[in-house]
Amino acid sequence: MAAVIRMHPMLLQLTLTSFVFLSCLRNGNAGITSTFIRSEYPSVDIPLDNKVFAVPKGHNAPQQVHITQGDYDGKAVIISWVTPDEPGTSKVQYGTSENGYKFSAEGIVTNYTFYKYKSGYIHHCLVDGLEHDTKYYYKIGSGDSSREFWFTTPPKIDPNSRYTFGIIGDLGQTFNSLSTLEHYMQSKGQAVLFLGDLSYADRYQYNEVGLRWDTWGRFVEQSTAYQPWIWSAGNHEIEFMPYLGEVTPFKSYLQRYATPYLASKSSNPLWYAIRRASAHIIVLSSYSPFVKYTPQWRWLEEELKRVDREKTPWLIVLMHVPIYNSNDAHYMEGESMRVVFESWFVHYKVDIIFAGHVHAYERSYRISNIHYNITSGDQNPIPDKSAPVYITVGDGGNQEGLAGRFRDPQPDYSAFREAAYGHSTLEVINRTHALYHWNRNDDGKKIATDAFVLHNQYWGMNHRRRKLKKHYVRKSLEQIAIY
Ligand SMILES: [Fe+2]
Repeated sequence: MAAVIRMHPMLLQLTLTSFVFLSCLRNGNAGITSTFIRSEYPSVDIPLDNKVFAVPKGHNAPQQVHITQGDYDGKAVIISWVTPDEPGTSKVQYGTSENGYKFSAEGIVTNYTFYKYKSGYIHHCLVDGLEHDTKYYYKIGSGDSSREFWFTTPPKIDPNSRYTFGIIGDLGQTFNSLSTLEHYMQSKGQAVLFLGDLSYADRYQYNEVGLRWDTWGRFVEQSTAYQPWIWSAGNHEIEFMPYLGEVTPFKSYLQRYATPYLASKSSNPLWYAIRRASAHIIVLSSYSPFVKYTPQWRWLEEELKRVDREKTPWLIVLMHVPIYNSNDAHYMEGESMRVVFESWFVHYKVDIIFAGHVHAYERSYRISNIHYNITSGDQNPIPDKSAPVYITVGDGGNQEGLAGRFRDPQPDYSAFREAAYGHSTLEVINRTHALYHWNRNDDGKKIATDAFVLHNQYWGMNHRRRKLKKHYVRKSLEQIAIY
């Protein structure tokens, strides 16, 4: 230790750099296992009296404000909030100038119990008929307790619409969660694709379960009130707690977090699809039936046929449990969904499948295992240009901590893996190119911990690329060269 302290600062820096470089080791044909270890906050929830959970001032003031896309194409939002003392109004006033609330929409109010906890009054209001690419201001609540926020609608559905998504999973409510949220908010993300496991309230018992849903709603409001979070459900949303007399799966989640499932002809809010800018986003439920002939299977079969890559070139799937995961945590848990859906993902040339659940980061190469059956002997995933990239971003920073043990050796399909907290961004440039970053919780900046240029799976095909070359490709490459 003393020897290190005596080193010249330059030499010390060189030594540390070499160590980080050498610690990214390759195994055979596989990718990189980063052994980077960053000091982290303890994996405990932020105390209840912390300011991130502060209740807004005023009698019955709206709290836990969050918005999500309200239709198929991005011309509507669902605005949700909670009033703690009495139902109050479910009206949203909105308009395109600050304090100029020309329009209004009427929502609904509901509440529920969980063990002996009684929720506040939960409001959901659909605001539709909006213009694309427009900033709207909105006001909820009444009198001195009313609160004002704003959001921007996405550009119209167009294959070359530029748009930046954030990707966050397994967030929870620790100081690590707060770092992730703050770092994401420093990015240029315009909407969040959330990969399940929201509050981790189910780690508590009795009335604290409901209370920790409330604190989480207040914690994320700094982002969720201003831009849509596209929700998917994880195992921590199930809350099957017979010892409390609570046996209705997803009760708190479904009461609090609305999704526009009817707009995509889904029969259940746990699986649905939206189109936003140049992306078609499909949300699946890992914890709902999905085998052949189930409602989710039938819906996905139809929804994939509705995808029009000429209008929305980017096809993105969200689920909670990863299909390809080489971490010891939750290893093989996605295998059953892989068996059912992987051939569709390859056939329809899905660009990326994002998952959470495993509290680490991992990215795959384009691989598939669709030739395998129990008699073929082809048990190994193989490189497949038509296959999606599988990315696990379950590293939001919840109280369960990191999943630090990867399987050794790193399998051939795994391109990059690291056990650290963070979030991702996907910047869609046009129909052919997107930029992807995984941003470790270092400083919120776009450090190239894991970054690459993503070529669209549909428009990247040779004959389509030739068709586009004259107009688009050269321009795209000029833009991308700066990264
Ligand atoms: Fe999970």
